[in-house]
Amino acid sequence: MSQKINIAIDGPAASGKSAAAQLLAKKIDYIFVDTGIIYRSFTLFCLQNNFNMNDTQLLISALKTFEIKWVNNHFLFNNQPISDEIYSSSVTKSVPIIAVIPEVRALFVEKIQDIVSAKGYIVVGRDITSVVLPDAELKIFLTSSLAARSERRWKQYLSEGVNITQKTVYQDMEKRDNGDKSRDIGQLTIVEDAIVFDNSNYDLSTTVEKLFKTFVEYGEKS
Ligand code: C5P
Repeated sequence: MSQKINIAIDGPAASGKSAAAQLLAKKIDYIFVDTGIIYRSFTLFCLQNNFNMNDTQLLISALKTFEIKWVNNHFLFNNQPISDEIYSSSVTKSVPIIAVIPEVRALFVEKIQDIVSAKGYIVVGRDITSVVLPDAELKIFLTSSLAARSERRWKQYLSEGVNITQKTVYQDMEKRDNGDKSRDIGQLTIVEDAIVFDNSNYDLSTTVEKLFKTFVEYGEKS
């Protein structure tokens, strides 16, 4: 395809969307943007500053001093590359608190839209197909069963030496899914023109191949 497009991908936690989108971006020479990084980095910033996570006004005013930049197609938080700390369990637990604050979402939506100011981007998150890039040429909803996703995440924890039961991972993920789907703003939803993939039974490379095929088919049709 000569003319570049934008690809918006939404999906629940551990659906493999970031890993697959990153590989697809490499394959088709597109820029990959993982928007969860912004929400996670702001949560980490609030935790590092010992902010009371129940004080919504404080969290909103903290936005003024939170600095995340997009430099050379990567996020920088506090002028440093993003650290794995944003994936810690404390951040994962607290990120839903900040993800429901309208002022936070409004600012981050604007930030992502500023980043994606041209074509040639693959952007993943929860509200990308619905709110951030409703005009994206290709919209994909990537999902897997809760059982498949929690097993994947549990195995990942085990490989990292994290001591946690599969049941706890399942329950935590179920809670986060419900939060992402039921919040009043920026909720995870399947838009009418999204292509839905259930990759419960696919490995990562099969998921990438399916996405690639969809991309090629879009190019052939347009
Ligand atoms: O995708 P990831 O699991 O890293 O996202 C972390 C959290 O950030 C999600 O649970 C979701 O609540 C929030 N998020 C969001 N909107 C986005 C991306 C992430 O609300 N576009």
